[in-house]
Amino acid sequence: MRRVNVAVPPPYDVTIGAGAGALAELSRVVGDRANVVVSQAAVFGAHGAALKAALGGSEPWVELVADGEDAKSFATVEGLCRTFADGGLPRGGVVVAFGGGVVGDTAGFAAAVYHRGVAVVQVPTTLLAQVDAAVGGKTAVNLPEGKNLVGAFHQPLGVVVDTSTLSTLPDAEYRSGLGEVAKYSLMPQGAAVAAVLDADLARVLARDPATLEGLVAECVEIKAAVVGADPEERTGARATLNFGHTFGHALETVAGYTHSHGEAVAVGLVFATHLARSLDRVDDAAVARTEDVLTSLGLPISVGQPEEIGLSGVGASELLDVMHRDKKASGGLTFVLPGPAGLESVDDPPASALEAAMRAVGVPASGGGG
Ligand code: NAD
Ligand code: GLY
Repeated sequence: MRRVNVAVPPPYDVTIGAGAGALAELSRVVGDRANVVVSQAAVFGAHGAALKAALGGSEPWVELVADGEDAKSFATVEGLCRTFADGGLPRGGVVVAFGGGVVGDTAGFAAAVYHRGVAVVQVPTTLLAQVDAAVGGKTAVNLPEGKNLVGAFHQPLGVVVDTSTLSTLPDAEYRSGLGEVAKYSLMPQGAAVAAVLDADLARVLARDPATLEGLVAECVEIKAAVVGADPEERTGARATLNFGHTFGHALETVAGYTHSHGEAVAVGLVFATHLARSLDRVDDAAVARTEDVLTSLGLPISVGQPEEIGLSGVGASELLDVMHRDKKASGGLTFVLPGPAGLESVDDPPASALEAAMRAVGVPASGGGG
């Protein structure tokens, strides 16, 4: 079992283990407080018995939310808050978010606003949520105008990770999490993550729970340190976690969410590294390393991959339009790029560098919005 502390006020632990012993940590975090479990049908169907045992064996109070981005809505949060009120969840109660990022974001947001804030414990069951979404206190819902536009910072009481829950995760969802793992391994502080991938790639791809305990823990070490340094994304430190995401988000939007998030981030990492190369911030070896890591994890390195959903006709102008609208942009176009001083936000790179990076990921230099 690994334990990583997140040094925000108040600090909390992320406990990472492989198997039933890991979930047992949940009863220590929740204690004897009234609690409600928020989950989804697929998650609770596969792992509800283990969660129930972890909470002490009696029948838990469970509320299921729907699947997918559409469920990240005010309607879902309102529904949760009303069931919390109907069921009498007190101010001292705890919301247990048992699922992937959709459950974590909606249950976390409901916990942030119900009674002006009740505690939440995150129990993530996707690789993406274990290495990223469950740690750091970001909660959100979507609006028709954009993704994650409304939310709150609401740090959890604790995060409890059981890597054996990943055995039932659909392949595409697992690959999506690997995109974030690749991001950590390519960050300047990513040596320990890269070492696990170098030493144990086959076991990572086979989802060996013990190997994943180490891998998830090393990713969480990085996220916890960044969140501790900049809990509410005010200094720029936390924004470095968006490495690969400016292009990745644009690709997701233009493609209509046919790529998984991690696949889009993978292409975004290649784009960012080529952009950094064009700006003489990194050398050819950095580009080669990025492409090698992603390929070894079965992730795409161009917009033409994977073949069944590849966007070989996608246009540069369409992607640039979406990137200009990125809510994180500080006016013009902002990218998190590697360089001699580590990851930094770079504003408005020259058109020639953008065109080179577009070409490198298979987008025509001056595409017409295909
Ligand atoms: P998800 O929550 O949509 O889960 C994917 C699917 O897998 C769902 O159908 C779910 O029911 C199922 N599932 C989950 N765990 C399972 C398991 N162990 N076995 C079988 N099925 C399982 O996807 P996600 O990738 O975890 O989360 C994506 C969301 O996370 C996005 O909305 C994104 O905006 C958000 N996110 C939030 C943060 C943050 O810091 N708060 C960070 C990154 C992403
Ligand atoms: N997923 C990026 C962050 O938590 O800041």
